[in-house]
Amino acid sequence: MSGTVTPALLEQAAHKLKRAQRILVVTGAGISAESGIPTFRGSGGLWEGFRAEDLATPAAFKRMPGRVWKWYRWRRQIVLAAQPNPGHLALATLEKQLPFVEIVTQNVDGLHGRAGSQRLIELHGNIHRARCTDCHQVSSLPEADVAEGEQLPECWKCGGLLRPHILWFGEHYWPGTMDVAMEAGVQASVILVVGTSAQVYAPVGLVLEAQELGAFVIDVNPEETHFSRQADIFLQGTSGTLLPQLSTFLLSLEEPQV
Ligand code: OAD
Ligand code: ZN
Repeated sequence: MSGTVTPALLEQAAHKLKRAQRILVVTGAGISAESGIPTFRGSGGLWEGFRAEDLATPAAFKRMPGRVWKWYRWRRQIVLAAQPNPGHLALATLEKQLPFVEIVTQNVDGLHGRAGSQRLIELHGNIHRARCTDCHQVSSLPEADVAEGEQLPECWKCGGLLRPHILWFGEHYWPGTMDVAMEAGVQASVILVVGTSAQVYAPVGLVLEAQELGAFVIDVNPEETHFSRQADIFLQGTSGTLLPQLSTFLLSLEEPQV
């Protein structure tokens, strides 16, 4: 599909959303870019010479747990200082405007929840939570834990080493999480994909399977990706601009037709 966003294309997308019984929104790092949170791939994706793929793995944590914690503390600091942007807020508004909107996010920053979205599946976990490597207890991290440093946090229950409660490269999805996400895809008649490079297999599979079952796919991204080429509508631009425009179009569709 062409990447030019005309008002007619936006209106077509809004019509599709308006008529859908169930909508699934699949988001990636791009939706938080306009909140100042760096994406994984592309410029600015490096940290102290490491790629995300070198730090977000069980092997990296085993080898250098302090370094991995330092990276997550740095990322948490950015997230805590950030605010949901107009893209997150527009999605929370869509949930109120339409009968059933659900979000599956690959992001761990918690910004969808802070923007007010209620039906939310955080596929890769949440940066504000940790899990004990011994007893597996999940707990919330205190805000004060964001101080720079490589010290290792311990479990309040058993004293074991805590790790971020985040899905790392090479790990399996938590039992049930992917099933719930796949079911959301199967049930949806429209899938709105926002700000993902379509490099991680599971979310890509979810969208493609839903599309095979007949779902209409709309992709929002400033860059062309595998998804944008497969999408029924490609809205090429940033989510902070295009999602509020979609929401406004939806409002105009609610006006009585003459
Ligand atoms: P990526 O960093 O791979 O891709 C970000 C996408 O957002 C790119 O396609 C950009 O073009 C797009 N983008 C940038 N700015 C945007 C904007 N303002 N509005 C809309 N889109 C914008 O991030 P993800 O696809 O989310 O996994 O990466 C998926 C997963 O890979 C992450 O969840 C993470 C990572 O490894 C884990 O940590 C398990
Ligand atoms: Zn423990």
